[in-house]
Amino acid sequence: MLTDAHNRTINYVRLAVTDRCNLRCSYCMPEHMQFLQRKELLTYEEIIRVMQLLAVEGVSKVRITGGEPFLRKDLLHLLEQLVQLPGMAQLSITTNGVLTRSFIPALQDLGIRHINLSLDTLQRDKFRRITFRDEFNAVMDTLEALLQYNMQVKINTVVMDGVNTDELLAFAALTKDRPLGVRFIEEMPFNGHGKSFSGPLWHYEHILDTLRSAYPLEKIPDAPNATSLNYHIPGHQGHVGVIPAYSRTFCGSCNRIRITPTGGLKTCLYGKDVINVKDLLRQGATDEYLMQAVQQAIHRRFANGFEAEADNERMVSMSEIGG
Ligand code: GTP
Ligand code: 5AD
Ligand code: SF4
Repeated sequence: MLTDAHNRTINYVRLAVTDRCNLRCSYCMPEHMQFLQRKELLTYEEIIRVMQLLAVEGVSKVRITGGEPFLRKDLLHLLEQLVQLPGMAQLSITTNGVLTRSFIPALQDLGIRHINLSLDTLQRDKFRRITFRDEFNAVMDTLEALLQYNMQVKINTVVMDGVNTDELLAFAALTKDRPLGVRFIEEMPFNGHGKSFSGPLWHYEHILDTLRSAYPLEKIPDAPNATSLNYHIPGHQGHVGVIPAYSRTFCGSCNRIRITPTGGLKTCLYGKDVINVKDLLRQGATDEYLMQAVQQAIHRRFANGFEAEADNERMVSMSEIGG
């Protein structure tokens, strides 16, 4: 079992398989990103070796992130192996939806049902302004196809002052006739510019108050280790939620670690890489040595994202971490 000094057990790994992306969301990366070379990435063999060892230690949930995961060559080949890991209860993917549609039947065949889709506006022009790419129609086609295939879909909407704050109710309205979740995320300072937000932070309570101005919100009991607070709107098939990603109200029950595209192990989203599993593997580490290093790193974990941030002088692009 993987436990830290604050009595938290790790059973969830967020695995970022690439730093590349086919969008340029302003809160995530600048137009001209210096992407990694292939040899700097963990290979699929290396990923599987690490994940096998983590599964033995009780990891039962893996979320594939990026960059945009579907840009990594032969992603299905990796997914096929991950679903077969012992004790793997849930393999899920966070994607921007640009390329996702054609993969849906194969995902269904693999038993992958949980897809989180990043979408910050319901307007094509604004989509182009936020992402610097004209892919709105492709993403909306993916959304409808995911629902047709009965996938469990959550839309991730990063709330940006003066950019999409006029659309919160339109997003909530999407949940009326569709069985999906919409989760409004507090913006975080990982935009690759090393500077702060696009505007003042929209605190999650402020987001909830805005939703309450139009809808009665009925609280849905929190799932264990949840990052989101979720609400049912009477008469709606889906649900809405907020993720206090900047306020970091959920650190006390955090059950997750991250593996970056280059093999960095992050024991907090806001922290630095604490060890690098690719370097250890390529230096010939045995399984025992590797897992000892992982366990020690987890044990030394900070109590919360504020402490981890204070220890981290380099705020990077979200695409280098995986969110
Ligand atoms: P579910 O399994 O559906 O709950 O997914 P998730 O919310 O864990 O993952 P997703 O990739 O959809 O992330 C949604 C948002 O939550 C993103 O903006 C993430 O960066 C943020 N997030 C996820 N985990 C953490 C965390 O541990 N800390 C913080 N601050 N934000 C997180
Ligand atoms: N702040 C909050 N959320 C972000 N994401 C990417 N960058 C940021 C940021 N700066 C979200 C994406 C994606 C998830 C993995 O992280 O929208 O859905
Ligand atoms: Fe790409 Fe996701 Fe970053 Fe947007 S948030 S640029 S979709 S990696």
